[in-house]
Amino acid sequence: MNPVPMFDYRAQLESLRGEMMAAIARVLDSGTLILGPEVERFEQAMARSLGGGTTIGCNSGTDALVLAFRALGIGAGDQIVTVANTAVPTVSAIRMVGAVPVFVDVDPRTALMDLDRLPAVLGPRTKAIVPVHLYGNMVDVEALRERLRGRELPIIEDCAQAQGASLRGRPAGTIGTIGAYSFYPTKNLGAYGDGGACWTADPALAARMKSLRMYGFEDAYYAERDGINSRLDPLQAAVLATKLPHLPAFVALRQQLAARYDERLPPRIVRIAAAAGVAHGRHLYVVRVPDRDAVRAALDGRGIKTGVHYPFPIHRMRAYAELGYADGSLPHTEALAREVLSLPLFPELPQASVDQVAAALDQVVR
Ligand SMILES: Cc1ncc(COP(=O)(O)O)c(C=O)c1O
Repeated sequence: MNPVPMFDYRAQLESLRGEMMAAIARVLDSGTLILGPEVERFEQAMARSLGGGTTIGCNSGTDALVLAFRALGIGAGDQIVTVANTAVPTVSAIRMVGAVPVFVDVDPRTALMDLDRLPAVLGPRTKAIVPVHLYGNMVDVEALRERLRGRELPIIEDCAQAQGASLRGRPAGTIGTIGAYSFYPTKNLGAYGDGGACWTADPALAARMKSLRMYGFEDAYYAERDGINSRLDPLQAAVLATKLPHLPAFVALRQQLAARYDERLPPRIVRIAAAAGVAHGRHLYVVRVPDRDAVRAALDGRGIKTGVHYPFPIHRMRAYAELGYADGSLPHTEALAREVLSLPLFPELPQASVDQVAAALDQVVR
């Protein structure tokens, strides 16, 4: 039986090797190793791919969220509403600006923020909402806005897992106030190291984020505001600019493999559903299985690697105990953490591997 990895970037590198090595050499020969034309070129290309607006490259998806919050003037004691089944960095970014995360339970069918529960957690200290487009699925940001009872709260879309996804034709990250993207290597658009970006249609916010990522400078050596160092590396920008034109094809391959899982998995295996109106980015293909850890071990014994996104609900982690969420306070989030299982999925995964995984799950899951 062929081993099936969860992720392997090397086949993609092989297919792009010539242009990738030329792009890397171009940066090394350019004489500019911090920001500069390579980063600008990528930022402009990404903004074009999103239909306009401004993209600001930074060091990670975590920092993209931090820059967004700081540009919006969110800080100590402010509340930011999000979910607890996301990656930890969504929440650590909130804590990094001194704000307080407030969690909403998720819809168990989609694993996305349950918008019906949102109005109940809004209060005078709420300063922003962070819908997380988990697994490449998308929260209906337009419907979310309608639940804000007329309040003009900023919406920061956590698009780390959803680049290339869209909602009724609108790209992930462009529906709210700011989109925050990650180029972590496994992501739909992955760098060969860390990277991230913010997107916004608002020129004033864009200018603030650009200044904040570089010590608060507008002109050299003079801080206009209290900034940080979070720049997109030009080597990574060149890597990303090389991959960006291929992103729609990469996402289409992910969608084809996901459709194959849909078709091949036995009907008793519960899938996390794509939300209505969403062209799913298929960053991850996630199913729910009781006795998940035993299923994982059995698949591992058959050479099949899987992932869990995520095994621990954030509101129950030691780091966030002071927030005071009891066991059982977000029941769907907690049940998902016990049962979710991510199956191998990346653009270069052979279809035969999908068939192999589906057949193995059929044997392993009673
Ligand atoms: C949903 C989500 N938000 C934020 C992040 C943070 O991105 P990064 O690892 O680039 O800081 C990630 C990825 O790790 C993520 O999956």
